[in-house]
Amino acid sequence: MTNQLRADGTLRHLLTLESLARTDIERLLDRAQTFVRPLGAKPPVSTALAGITVANLFTEPSTRTRVSFELAAKRLGADVVNLEVQLSSRVKGESMLDTVYTLQSLHVDVMVIRDPEAGVPDLVAANVAPHVSVLSAGEAHVSHPTQGLLDALTVRQHKKRFEKLGIAIVGDIRHSRVARSAYHVFRTLGVPDLRIVAPESLLPAAKEFAGCARHTTLEAGIKDVDVVMMLRIQKERMGQVDLPDADRYFSMYGLTPERLEHARPDAIVMHPQPMNRGIEIASDVADGKQSVIRDQVRNGVAVRMAVLAEVVGSRAVTVEGGR
Ligand code: NCD
Repeated sequence: MTNQLRADGTLRHLLTLESLARTDIERLLDRAQTFVRPLGAKPPVSTALAGITVANLFTEPSTRTRVSFELAAKRLGADVVNLEVQLSSRVKGESMLDTVYTLQSLHVDVMVIRDPEAGVPDLVAANVAPHVSVLSAGEAHVSHPTQGLLDALTVRQHKKRFEKLGIAIVGDIRHSRVARSAYHVFRTLGVPDLRIVAPESLLPAAKEFAGCARHTTLEAGIKDVDVVMMLRIQKERMGQVDLPDADRYFSMYGLTPERLEHARPDAIVMHPQPMNRGIEIASDVADGKQSVIRDQVRNGVAVRMAVLAEVVGSRAVTVEGGR
């Protein structure tokens, strides 16, 4: 794995949260928090990334992640180009690295990459020029580091001390990069009670998620937790898994208001989206008072601004409202 940090300890690439220290994560969360504004207020803007070009290179569908990377870059004054697989020449057989070298020659400084194949962000990071940064926007089922950071920021806004928390991740853990990045970030931040909850066929291999309690019933899995993180069933990453149909899945694992009562009364409910309402989560819960799902989206822009500001680092000027 390519080294993500520069010699001075700042972030150059963001490919995974797995190897980051608690201090690195906290520094990014602190910086992200400076970019959070209440709904209805004007978002923070600056010229910190003026003259910097960010390319969004997405070969898998995305709504929130792509838009929030774009808004984050623009609010910091960067130029942004968006490449989608239908438009890029990758479909004509050009390799990913040739696309990357082309972008590099066009003075792209930051490449934001989402790809269904494991290892692609790391391959790109290992081959770009020293001034170029690579940010993963979702790598196969392996990792989704900015999602992990925005999830941690959201929890921190509501719960303060990670060392006291119970967090249950519920749903298609096996195919989820969101679950893997959440696992890494919450472990590093010292969460003592981390659980994964899924039907047997959607739990990960036994050697993964070390230290997590594994549950196959929702009620026991979320009992007295502070945070319930629901995940989408990832049909596109499944081969032949033994899965109950949608109605049966909802009757066993769908988060309803009644089921949520098994968690602490002040528990928060999270979901990375897109949501399958009526399959993994009831609308009453998704839109209910314990839901922080829309905060997650807002925090996504703030986290991506913090990451962009740090990777561009001293090439940028000081961020207004930041550090
Ligand atoms: C997730 C993803 O693409 O990994 N979405 C997101 O980025 N918020 C989760 C999903 O697709 O279920």
